Amino acid sequence: MTFFRWTDELALGIDVIDRQHRRLVDLIRSLHEDILDKRHTRESTAEVLEELFLYAAIHFREEERLMEECGYPDIDNHRQEHVFFLNKIKDLDMKFRSGSVTVNMELMDFMKTWLQYHIKVTDRRYLTCMNRQNPSKDVDNQKS
Ligand SMILES: [Fe+2]
Repeated sequence: MTFFRWTDELALGIDVIDRQHRRLVDLIRSLHEDILDKRHTRESTAEVLEELFLYAAIHFREEERLMEECGYPDIDNHRQEHVFFLNKIKDLDMKFRSGSVTVNMELMDFMKTWLQYHIKVTDRRYLTCMNRQNPSKDVDNQKS
């Protein structure tokens, strides 16, 4: 069974965000596949881990920009959740590089559970705000 894959339950109906969430799901799955692959190396794991960190940072920035744009009132708490996840991955990345930890199933489960909960609960809360500002539900189109 696939460890983590995109399902419609995760869709929020805002194209740019759904696309980025899909990519995050794919990166977490790639990391899981990497650690299960017998041919994986420290370098291959470090590479996916870094990509996950960098992409999560890009995605969170974009989400925060959209929250600011619509005047989302709970942005500070939301931002703190993003910071928590980024710190966790950064810390893991550093410890992994120094050789003091391995990426194990417990960590993989943490990432999967965190992202699922964050999308289904925390992200869902900003929908009223973003959809009010952009009734077409397609924030991407707004720019064109
Ligand atoms: Fe978020």
